[in-house]
Amino acid sequence: MSRPTFALYFPRDFKWGTATAAHQVEGNNTNNQWWRWEQSHARIMNGDSSGLACNWWNDAEADFDRMVTLGLNAHRLSVEWSRIEPREGRFDSAALDRYRAMLLALRQRGIEPMVTLHHFTNPWWLEERGGWEDADLVVPRFCRFVETVVRALGDLCDLWCTINEPNVYAVMGYLSGGRMPPGVQDVSRTANVMRNMLIAHAAAYQVLHQNQRLARVGIAHHMRYFEPMRPGHPLDALVARALNSMFNQSVLDALIHGKWHLVLRRGAPASARKLRGTLDWIGLNYYTRHRVAFDHTKRETFFSELLIYPQDVMMTDFNFGEIYPQGILRFVRHLARYRLPIYITENGLPDHDDDLRPAFLIQHLHATWQAIQSCYDVRGYYHWSFVDNFEWGEGWRMKFGLVAMDPKTQAREFRRSAWLYRDIIRSGGITSEIVEAYAPALFQTLYQ
Ligand code: FCB
Repeated sequence: MSRPTFALYFPRDFKWGTATAAHQVEGNNTNNQWWRWEQSHARIMNGDSSGLACNWWNDAEADFDRMVTLGLNAHRLSVEWSRIEPREGRFDSAALDRYRAMLLALRQRGIEPMVTLHHFTNPWWLEERGGWEDADLVVPRFCRFVETVVRALGDLCDLWCTINEPNVYAVMGYLSGGRMPPGVQDVSRTANVMRNMLIAHAAAYQVLHQNQRLARVGIAHHMRYFEPMRPGHPLDALVARALNSMFNQSVLDALIHGKWHLVLRRGAPASARKLRGTLDWIGLNYYTRHRVAFDHTKRETFFSELLIYPQDVMMTDFNFGEIYPQGILRFVRHLARYRLPIYITENGLPDHDDDLRPAFLIQHLHATWQAIQSCYDVRGYYHWSFVDNFEWGEGWRMKFGLVAMDPKTQAREFRRSAWLYRDIIRSGGITSEIVEAYAPALFQTLYQ
């Protein structure tokens, strides 16, 4: 008996995109703190470094052509501060021209750019002087940089993402003790950096609007789904709630309500009132669920994470995370209360063999479709990532791309998931034929 047919259609103007970041794809970004950090091989898996990355500085256009092959109508990319302002106060017009050319190339291909203004990297001159630890240093300089960018590129872009993941930047650089530069482990410095990024976001929001009336300004907010490791265990539940409030909610409370979270309030130089209402949209970067437990031996943070997962849990390559598609729907439902447009600004997984990605993509898009059916205003989905790229401390081993790339030869090959994404975009949604062809095991779950 043949299976029934169905189609889960998305709105006609839905943005079907992918996401990248400058340092991960451009190559030879020699002037920022990450490049320096990579020079010490022990810090990056397998002694890798970004090197030529995906060669986008010279030829992003070849990948933009591949985006056309897949039918994408949106792409999120970032501009590299250290290229545009290589020395303090000196702006490089050739670098701005190169970004103009990239944005124009996207536009000419019918792909709407979303431009991120800060994605983990700082010019070395800024980092040397303390980077994001000093609000008086960084906020005015970030604003001047943003103003330069919006003036130079504003005719080609009006969808701006100020800062990528302030919580991840702060935690990885200032709490993890070595996963990202500057490799610090200090709770109050972490909070200070996160707070300064939120202040800088709000200031940049005003700069963008002063220079471009119709600017649409948001942030890419990384949200992790924390759940107690031992269901019903009160201390685990407490830890999960505390993490949720510090890591996920504090950013929203600051930018939507103008309120500092307890952790951010300590030592805060000023009230957060000025931050209120500085989002035109919310970007959700969603990857995975974390099961956490109270752990009194962890002196700074008091929690540990589940490292060995039960057999029935689907894990990505290198245990990067558990595959938990419902998380997207739950977070969108949570964000919808703020009545702002929502973009899924990142979602993806490391999967070299592409044996998990097809089902992952269908399930996460299905959850997104469910959110839209519930009248939540989700405007677009940007898969991380278009092409395998330099995955920070993980180096080249984690393969996030719809397109596979060998960093030694620059050779590229579309993964099967790329064709799946193309077929979904072409059909305007997820159809039974597509599920049958790419992930038949999901059929029953989706047909209900
Ligand atoms: C996100 C980052 C992005 C990439 C993905 C895998 O947290 O924004 O640059 O590293 O994770």
